[in-house]
Amino acid sequence: MDNTPTTDTSAPGLLAGKVAFVSGAGRGIGAAAARLFAREGARVLLAARTESQLEAVTAEIRADGGTADHVVCDLADAASVRAAVDRALGLYGRIDLAFNNGAAITPPGPLDQVQESDFDRLYAVNLKGLWLAMTAEIDAIRATAGTGAIVNNSSVGSLRGNPELPAYGAMKRAVNSLTESAAITCGPEGIRVNAIAPGNTLTEMIRTWEADSPGLQERLTSRTPLRRAADPDEIAEAAAWLLSDRSSYVTGTILRVDGGAGT
Ligand SMILES: NC(=O)c1ccc[n+]([C@@H]2O[C@H](COP(=O)([O-])OP(=O)(O)OC[C@H]3O[C@@H](n4cnc5c(N)ncnc54)[C@H](OP(=O)(O)O)[C@@H]3O)[C@@H](O)[C@H]2O)c1
Repeated sequence: MDNTPTTDTSAPGLLAGKVAFVSGAGRGIGAAAARLFAREGARVLLAARTESQLEAVTAEIRADGGTADHVVCDLADAASVRAAVDRALGLYGRIDLAFNNGAAITPPGPLDQVQESDFDRLYAVNLKGLWLAMTAEIDAIRATAGTGAIVNNSSVGSLRGNPELPAYGAMKRAVNSLTESAAITCGPEGIRVNAIAPGNTLTEMIRTWEADSPGLQERLTSRTPLRRAADPDEIAEAAAWLLSDRSSYVTGTILRVDGGAGT
């Protein structure tokens, strides 16, 4: 079976002619990704819970000449996730690409102090929600574009013990496992599935963690060979490459984008 991707060479841009679904696109890494994917020629559907943030990013993309729409979606709600992916089909008639980026964080603390409700929340949003999204996206790609690519947003904190965020780290490590399993299942059809593992990136999530853990930035940057945090755009670039046909022989990989922190 020939599942070599077909590239639209008539339009410029890394993602020209593609339709991309981005979760957690209202702010942070997801918003940077939605803007970048649109600049690279994709039509983008932005999803998250906070409509005002989605509206603002969508308006920016359109003002810049891109094509984007938004849909309110709660990753903890299976029907909402399925409806959001279906919305892309309704708007654009297809899905080629998905960036499963939306996730929650809960207060830091050692394993024995994690609240059961926080563990359940991280499971529902960061793991089960991502699995629900992947399932809907794979169905949609199969039914429309035929071949495509999915990138899941994991974390460098998934790669070894994570004593400050143990439940978050466990969910992210499970995301890596789902990524690898999906790559094996979907590879024969020409659907590639990869993950990125960002390090310390300047977004609301890291600021929330820092508020509970003063001195966090200094701690993280001192352990990072590049000695700085990432800008969200730098993480989005890695996702764009993994979604593009330029990475056409890459699947099942967990790509660290962490300034060397996981080395
Ligand atoms: N920042 C870092 O240093 C870092 C490092 C490693 C990995 N990451 C990962 O990068 C991804 C993006 O995080 P970020 O740093 O950009 O954080 P952020 O600024 O807090 O953005 C998180 C996004 O996810 C959405 N989200 C949260 N809960 C949701 C839910 N139940 N349903 C739908 N959307 C939901 C948020 O929108 P709503 O709240 O409006 O729903 C928001 O758009 C996450 O997967 C995170 O784990 C971040």
